[in-house]
Amino acid sequence: MELGSALQFLDNKSILVTGAAGFLAKIFVEKILRVQPNVKKLYLLLRATDHKSAMHRLHSEIIGKDLFRVLKEKCGKNFGSFISEKITLVPGDISHEDLGIKDSNLVQEILNEVDVVVNLAATTNFDERYDVSLGLNTFGAQFVADFAKKCVKLKVLVHVSTAYVSGERTGLILENPYSMGETLNGVSGLDINVEKEIIEQKLNELRVEGASDKEITRAMKDLGIQRARFYGWPNTYVFTKAMGEMLVGEFKGSLPIVIVRPTIITSTFKQPFPGWAEGVRTIDSLAIGYAKGKLSFFLGDMDSVVDLIPADMVVNAMIVAMIAHASNQPSETIYQVGSSMRNPVKYCDLQDFGYRYFSKKPWINKDGKPVIVGRIRVMDSMASFHRYIALRYLLPLKGLEFANTAFCHFFQGVYCNLTRKINFVTRMVDIYRPYLFFGGIFDDINTEKLRMAAKSSLEENDMFYFDPKCIDWNDYFMNIHIPGIVKYIFK
Ligand SMILES: NC(=O)c1ccc[n+]([C@@H]2O[C@H](COP(=O)([O-])OP(=O)(O)OC[C@H]3O[C@@H](n4cnc5c(N)ncnc54)[C@H](OP(=O)(O)O)[C@@H]3O)[C@@H](O)[C@H]2O)c1
Repeated sequence: MELGSALQFLDNKSILVTGAAGFLAKIFVEKILRVQPNVKKLYLLLRATDHKSAMHRLHSEIIGKDLFRVLKEKCGKNFGSFISEKITLVPGDISHEDLGIKDSNLVQEILNEVDVVVNLAATTNFDERYDVSLGLNTFGAQFVADFAKKCVKLKVLVHVSTAYVSGERTGLILENPYSMGETLNGVSGLDINVEKEIIEQKLNELRVEGASDKEITRAMKDLGIQRARFYGWPNTYVFTKAMGEMLVGEFKGSLPIVIVRPTIITSTFKQPFPGWAEGVRTIDSLAIGYAKGKLSFFLGDMDSVVDLIPADMVVNAMIVAMIAHASNQPSETIYQVGSSMRNPVKYCDLQDFGYRYFSKKPWINKDGKPVIVGRIRVMDSMASFHRYIALRYLLPLKGLEFANTAFCHFFQGVYCNLTRKINFVTRMVDIYRPYLFFGGIFDDINTEKLRMAAKSSLEENDMFYFDPKCIDWNDYFMNIHIPGIVKYIFK
């Protein structure tokens, strides 16, 4: 695999990026604009009713972010004109044909101009409504592939998936594609069109019953989890992402396709500066709860490997993979981008980093007082979690129920509140359980081959680093990631 110059590849190229206001997408956009200002155009597809609201999103959610400060400094007073020249906003919605782009001239321009399509649009909510998830993560992926096929100059489609399409597999998880209808538990009969019909039928039933919006949302969420588990996936998100991969693979036609499967994405390692992060993500929600003294226990296997990868490394891997496969030749290659294979870190390490960091630099609460953190209580099995919930919450809840009946519903508010909280925690634990006891290691042979090719033949190998072996996790957590999330995410 001869890679040559990435900057030369990007020179005068046009790229369509979907989900452009998302976390990973803006890091991708910033990187391209910063390292190759001679890129021809970036078409940024985002959900917006019209150009004006798309423009508002561009300013407030993309270029207005601190992430762009290095680029702003580089461009100086030309930043505004540079952005106007390089970025074309595309109001759209990938869960529709032609990506929901209403302006037919713009559709034509994109079809004529675009060299690369990068699909980063998704719902990353594990507990999303099934209809929304299927429409976006599954059929949306196909709509993007269909659109890419019509782009006359297209060199490659980069589809971003997730390593967790593997479900709860243990051991070494290979970079294998899914075949259409494949399931994780061997149950046969998975048919994506039937899944769509099941949703439509359920929605019709709910409408006939006169269900409220809230009831419909709840039913759609439950249906997603139920269908995912029927075929062996733990939640709606990874199930619909896996089906998205199936559709992209099945209908790729003559397209060269790269499927990038990142693991858990964390703050930037180096570029544009270390520690940029956005949005509360899985492991960060644990850190926030812990630092604020709100996490009374940790449920999970402290010895299990938690596969983390900084966002800038994911973006670099995407760019190098894009260059490696920009061939016009039909192909489908999967790249798992994570750290568990080459440089694993465990939950017990994270606990140690958190304890040391927040002992030294405690979070100051609303009253101006430091929150004192200690070693956290660990529950290493679901049985101990259920025991804890039963003793600490379900028993008092029973007492409250009794008192509530005896005192003519005097405690109704407290009772409902506690019931809601218990149900919420139980549902969250049910959804996140597979990741707290995860027993898999993500193989990355394809990604390693790409790294080798970059080392031997990419002119700008240092600029597009994505080797997790160079991460010193202690240094990264203590000096980059935790300070980053405290700055950008803690509120
Ligand atoms: N973050 C992680 O840890 C992680 C790990 C593994 C894989 N991934 C994958 O990486 C990709 C990017 O993830 P991310 O963390 O950057 O996600 P993100 O921040 O949630 O961004 C996703 C973007 O998709 C957009 N979107 C939602 N529905 C859309 C629609 N119908 N049409 C067009 N755009 C739509 C959202 O737009 P709005 O802003 O309008 O809501 C959002 O900007 C996803 O494919 C995800 O599965 C992420």
